[in-house]
Amino acid sequence: MIDAKLPIGVFDSGMGGLTVLRALQAAMPGESFIYLGDSARLPYGNKTPETVQEYALQASAALVERGIKALVIACNTASAAALPLLAKAYAPLPVFGVIEPGAQAAASAAADAEVLVLATEGTVMDGTYQRALLAANPDLSVYARACPLWVTLAEQGYAEDSQESGMVADAVLSHALRGFRHRRLVLLLGCTHFPVFRHKLAALLGDAAVIVDSAQTTALQVAEALKSDNAGASGDVTFLATDGAERFRRVGAYFLGKPIGAVELVKI
Ligand code: DGL
Repeated sequence: MIDAKLPIGVFDSGMGGLTVLRALQAAMPGESFIYLGDSARLPYGNKTPETVQEYALQASAALVERGIKALVIACNTASAAALPLLAKAYAPLPVFGVIEPGAQAAASAAADAEVLVLATEGTVMDGTYQRALLAANPDLSVYARACPLWVTLAEQGYAEDSQESGMVADAVLSHALRGFRHRRLVLLLGCTHFPVFRHKLAALLGDAAVIVDSAQTTALQVAEALKSDNAGASGDVTFLATDGAERFRRVGAYFLGKPIGAVELVKI
């Protein structure tokens, strides 16, 4: 029996998962959340699956210890490497990843168009997105590209529109889109850090492209599964980071789309 007033635990390697938290808050007003950014060990995207599994277990253990009613892996890399592991480790706690919902969002937007998945090296190599997309629609043309610099750019605040950082970001983003600009395309942002580049990507791709990410579909899936039952919940969000609490508070606001209050520094 789930204790409805407990918060939902959410984690990512850093601030990217705040894009998912934002969608969760919109889908479940009044719900309480506890968010952990494992900033001390970011990026996860170029680590081996074994290391990501170890980090994901530690991050979720820190949330489970505080008392949560569900766990959202707001990181594609960790969802690819560790979703079955975490679901088994914490059963019957409901555990949600972001890859299936992202693939569903892209497949329903795609019809017969091409899908380009942009993600971390770990997520691309794992192949879960490619398999999930083809399972949803075997006629899709699916391409996947690793974007190893994007997470760093996003965490450094280069998605913001200052002239200098904007030019650097545009050059790096364009490189990943080579051969795909001005094509009828579904661009699937397969990393929770990437939605902060949405406006820049839309400008670079042109009107024929549709850009999707997994935040909203994940939030709807979680809300549906939990039946939005938050009786007695405080509606508070607790923020934890494993390094750089002040930086997390400052830059994280950009990912969340609103100011972040206190951030507690934790060792996991
Ligand atoms: N935000 C994470 C994801 O969705 C990964 C970032 C990282 O490489 O740590 O894959």
